[in-house]
Amino acid sequence: MLSGKTVLVGITGGIAAYKICELIRMYKRANANVRVVCTQNALNFVTKLTLQNLSQNEVGVEEFDIKEFKPEHISYADEADIMVIAPATANTISKIATGVCDNLLTSIACAFTKPVIIAPAMNCGMWDNPILQENLNKLHYTILEPESGFLACGYEGKGRLCSLEKIFDKTVELLDYKPLTGKKIVITSGGTIENIDPVRYISNYSSGKMGLALADTAKSFGADVVLITTKEVSRKYDVIKVKSALDMKEAVEKEFETADCIIMAAAVADYRVKEISSQKMKKTADDEITLKLVKNPDILKEISSQKQGQIIVGFCAESENLIENAKEKIAKKGCDYLIANDISRKDIGFSSDYNEVTILAKNGGMKKLERVDKMTIARQIFEEIYG
Ligand code: PMT
Repeated sequence: MLSGKTVLVGITGGIAAYKICELIRMYKRANANVRVVCTQNALNFVTKLTLQNLSQNEVGVEEFDIKEFKPEHISYADEADIMVIAPATANTISKIATGVCDNLLTSIACAFTKPVIIAPAMNCGMWDNPILQENLNKLHYTILEPESGFLACGYEGKGRLCSLEKIFDKTVELLDYKPLTGKKIVITSGGTIENIDPVRYISNYSSGKMGLALADTAKSFGADVVLITTKEVSRKYDVIKVKSALDMKEAVEKEFETADCIIMAAAVADYRVKEISSQKMKKTADDEITLKLVKNPDILKEISSQKQGQIIVGFCAESENLIENAKEKIAKKGCDYLIANDISRKDIGFSSDYNEVTILAKNGGMKKLERVDKMTIARQIFEEIYG
């Protein structure tokens, strides 16, 4: 994703510095050339050797450690496509805002003319300090505000470094990575709702988060996105709200012909109630009642049999024998890819912000994506399909 790009990571002296080791790995996994500069204070929290090994480049700390004819800060600024300062302490933010250049990192920031991301992390009192806020307002950079929570200093409040995924995604966005430009991607999400009567229904635990992550990622990659969902969603791309499996089928069929790719992340009910009561069903004297269900159409299977060049991706929710069942399902449904997730686990799948999946391809290929947030899973899925 970031091949040919150089990301300059600036680390300042805050406890969140240790998290940046993983951010460097994320950039490396995306094929970026990563350069790292640190303040002396940052090295109290993370070693130069660690950063050097992870970035596979020398790490800059001293401003006058000159190896070429060009001053160090100018070489770094020239080479990089983007500068990411994380964690950014109150001290460094205020220095950059007021033009102070007293170390390699602040000097580079002053000379840098390309996009800059600042991800502050500090004690909540420091964050709330009006002087810091005034200095932040002076910076015409992308500021990824800290999150609220339990802070390393023992306080609870706003000051925790935002998620690494957020920093990574913003980096990708600012570098204008748009691999899906010109493609129409249709995504289904959420659990369908099958009415029983005006007050009761049959549904499932799908929150719509996985589908939404796919839609948001496709949008940020430049695609024309249509999200067909059972959930309330407000986005700047097309959102079609549906309820039942039959509604979803109708919406999918309408969008299918012009789509380049369709991803069925929705949890579609296999059965619906045969006769929906127009009035609220009354309690009877019987201890048991019988609800007659009829089979819903299998949308994924139907579109897979009608496809004309579209890439068709299904999801498969299994509570046992994940891979075995997924292999059977991809053969039965005939889609190009099937993303298998284990819905018996509480830490992934239904309603969780995280997922761990195995991507099965029609040609028999398989790739496991380790547990990570759903936005990252979404990105990895697109990389696999279009990579
Ligand atoms: O929404 P979240 O809380 O984020 O959770 C995400 C998820 C667990 C719902 C999602 O990752 C997922 O697994 N979605 C598919 C759920 C599902 O219906 O699985 P299935 O194995 O029953 O169906 C397989 C595929 O066939 C799915 O792509 C489904 O959309 C499709 N299908 C199923 C039945 C049907 N009648 N028509 C269909 O098109």
